[in-house]
Amino acid sequence: MYSHDIIKNRILVVGANGLLGQRLIAFYTAKENVELLGCSIEDQPTFSNVPYVRCDMAVREDVKKVVFSFYPDVIINAAAFTNVDLSETERETAWKINVKGVEYLAEACRTIDAKIIHISTDYIFNGLNGPYDENAKADPLGYYGRTKLASENALKIGAVIYSVIRTNVLYGIANSRPDFVRWVINSLSENKQIRVVHDQINNPTFVEDLVCAINKIIELNKYGLYNIGGKNFLNRYEFALLIAGYFNLDKNLIKPIITEELKQPAKRPLKSGLITIKAETELGYKPHSITEALSIIKMQLAL
Ligand SMILES: NC(=O)c1ccc[n+]([C@@H]2O[C@H](COP(=O)([O-])OP(=O)(O)OC[C@H]3O[C@@H](n4cnc5c(N)ncnc54)[C@H](OP(=O)(O)O)[C@@H]3O)[C@@H](O)[C@H]2O)c1
Repeated sequence: MYSHDIIKNRILVVGANGLLGQRLIAFYTAKENVELLGCSIEDQPTFSNVPYVRCDMAVREDVKKVVFSFYPDVIINAAAFTNVDLSETERETAWKINVKGVEYLAEACRTIDAKIIHISTDYIFNGLNGPYDENAKADPLGYYGRTKLASENALKIGAVIYSVIRTNVLYGIANSRPDFVRWVINSLSENKQIRVVHDQINNPTFVEDLVCAINKIIELNKYGLYNIGGKNFLNRYEFALLIAGYFNLDKNLIKPIITEELKQPAKRPLKSGLITIKAETELGYKPHSITEALSIIKMQLAL
């Protein structure tokens, strides 16, 4: 090897077309010491200039094929069945993707000694006494939370090199389903009234902060469980007001309601959120404030 050769870290992003997946692809595209491959369930990627393959992580052969042909050093699993309400009725699908899929990834990682970084959620908690640290007792209210807790356990017992990151209310801009911020901006810009719950408290996570935390876990070679949440704890109605204020939109269009009024199939943890002291101490994690994040989003949206 010549001295100017760069040893590249091979990173496979699973769920590359999702919100987190897309931001991971954008982040690692800019790194010359990374060889990147994205995969997801869709036939086509939402991005260009990065290799992409279709892979249904709920299909063991698909997972083996992509992992054994790319031979990654690290797999970042940003894929999941993320529809909390549908998870109540489409239980088999939710389990196949969120649990079996993670088992297949773990199995493939174990075979080639790759590390897996997996994303979990505060929905593994009942929301009676949040915010939660990494040692808090899990007690999911809904089926989605149960699958995500089971996915964590699959890695714990999987004899695999892993890190699990729990996060909550992910927001940021990607070429996919609008996040909460874009939903508020779009609705208010069209003069639509929106009903937003004021009894769900947490610390929303700016996706770029999560990407940086994942990268730190890789760079510093860290393992185990980390909470990654935002700097500000607030309820969802307050979050919507902040967005409206920042983008000069009509706050009067936002009506505060309680969660029960939405009659959603899945129960939500109300008093939740994630304490991030461990990540701050061990990873140097420093999340943006919501206002700082909104200023970045404003630039990304070129508003
Ligand atoms: N968003 C949040 O507020 C939040 C909060 C806490 C934790 N998390 C966790 O954070 C992670 C990333 O969330 P996100 O918001 O980026 O999710 P997302 O935008 O829904 O992206 C998930 C991606 O996974 C893909 N996918 C679904 N089933 C698949 C399969 N069988 N094989 C391969 N890919 C599949 C999805 O494709 P389709 O869209 O075509 O189904 C989508 O592109 C997830 O693990 C989620 O549970 C998210």
